Amino acid sequence: MAAITADPVLILGGGLMGLSIAHELARRGEDVLVISRRRGEAAGFVAAGMLAPHAEGLSGALLSLGQASLALIPHWVAGLEADSGLPCGLRITGIVVPFASDSAQGAFPTAAFGATLDREALEREVPGIGPRWRSGLLFRQDGQIDNRRCLMRALEAACVRRGVAFEEGSEVLELHSASGSGEGLTAVRVRRSDGETRRLTCRRAVLTSGAWAAQVLPGLPVHPIKGQMLSLQGPRGALRRVLFGPGTYLVPREDGLVVVGATSEPEAGFHGGLTPAGQRQLEDGVAALLPEASSWPPMERWWGFRPGTSDGEPLLGPGAIPGLWLATGHHRNGVLLAAITAKLMAHALGVAERGERPPSPAEAHVTAEADRWLGWFRPDRMENSPRFGPE
Ligand code: GLY
Repeated sequence: MAAITADPVLILGGGLMGLSIAHELARRGEDVLVISRRRGEAAGFVAAGMLAPHAEGLSGALLSLGQASLALIPHWVAGLEADSGLPCGLRITGIVVPFASDSAQGAFPTAAFGATLDREALEREVPGIGPRWRSGLLFRQDGQIDNRRCLMRALEAACVRRGVAFEEGSEVLELHSASGSGEGLTAVRVRRSDGETRRLTCRRAVLTSGAWAAQVLPGLPVHPIKGQMLSLQGPRGALRRVLFGPGTYLVPREDGLVVVGATSEPEAGFHGGLTPAGQRQLEDGVAALLPEASSWPPMERWWGFRPGTSDGEPLLGPGAIPGLWLATGHHRNGVLLAAITAKLMAHALGVAERGERPPSPAEAHVTAEADRWLGWFRPDRMENSPRFGPE
C-alpha cells in the first residue's frame, strides 16, 4: 500500500467512478485512499461499455453532460494509457439505432444528431440486420470502450502508478462528523474482511458506491436496477457498428466478441442471478436484430446492478455532511460519464490542476461549465426543486 499522509481524500467505493475520481485527484497531487468492499461487483465490470449519449436518447442537461464527457474521453484515455502502460480499448465505432417505422425514427429525442438511414443504408451499415427494421439513425460520434477487459485494469494500474492507496474487503459502516456542531466529516468507520472495525480519520470523502450508496447513507434516492448480460463470439469484423435496438444491444469488440445487453429489472432489488426470462429476452433480441448472431457460440453470462435514482439522473456534489461528496446514480451511463464525473468532483472539492500541461479544449469547456452542471445534478435537488415536487 502506498504511504498515506494525515489528510487523504477517502474514496468510498472502488468501482469505475471511485477509480476515475481517485486517479484524477492523485494526478492533481492529492493523497487518496480507496476503500472497497467487493470490487468485482462494481458496475464497471458488468456494463457493455457503450459511449452513447445520442443512441441512449438523452436530453437536457444529461445530454450536454454526456456529450461533454464523450469529448473528454480520447484525452482521458490517453492519460490513463500513459500512466498505466495498458490499453483501454476505446473504439469510436458509431452506433446504429434501428426503427420498425419512419415515424419512430423522426420522434427519437436525439435524431438531429444522427444520420438517417433507409433500409438500404441500414443493410450497408449492418449487413445481416433483421427484416423488421425499416430505417435507422447512425450516430458516428458514439462508440464504446472495453471496460471489462481493459479499462478497469488500466484505471487500477494508473491509480497505483499515481500513488493511490487501496483498502480492499472493507465495508463502510458509518460516517462520523463533529458532534452536534455540523462542522463536518471527521472519520469513517469501516469493518475489514477479518471482522475488525477501524476508524479512519478524514476531513474529505467521496461516496462512489454505486447502487449500494443508500446502504451507507440511508434515505439517499439511489436504488439498484439489475441488468443481465451475455456475450457471443462472432467472426472478427462481422459486426462493425454497435447495434442498439429496443431492449437489446450488441456491442462488437475488436476481436469479434459481442457483448449483448441488457435487461432492466428494478423489481429485482439486489437479488442476483440469471433468470430464464431475462436470458430469453436477450436471445430474442439478438435474433430480431441480427439473425445470424443466434448461431454464434455463447461465451459468458452475467448480471449486475446499475445505480438508479428517482429522476434517472446522477447525484454529483456535496452530501449532507460538510466534507462528504457524492458521485453516484449514473444509471445506464456510468462508462460514458466516468471521465466528466472525475473532473467535476475534482472541481467540486476545489482541487486544482497542477499546470503540468495546458488543458485540452474539452477540459477547458468542462471547467467553464462545471458549476452549472454541479448545480443541476446537486444531490439535494429531489428535496428542493419543483421538478421533483409532488404532482
Ligand atoms: N448502458 C446500457 C445499459 O445500462 O444497459
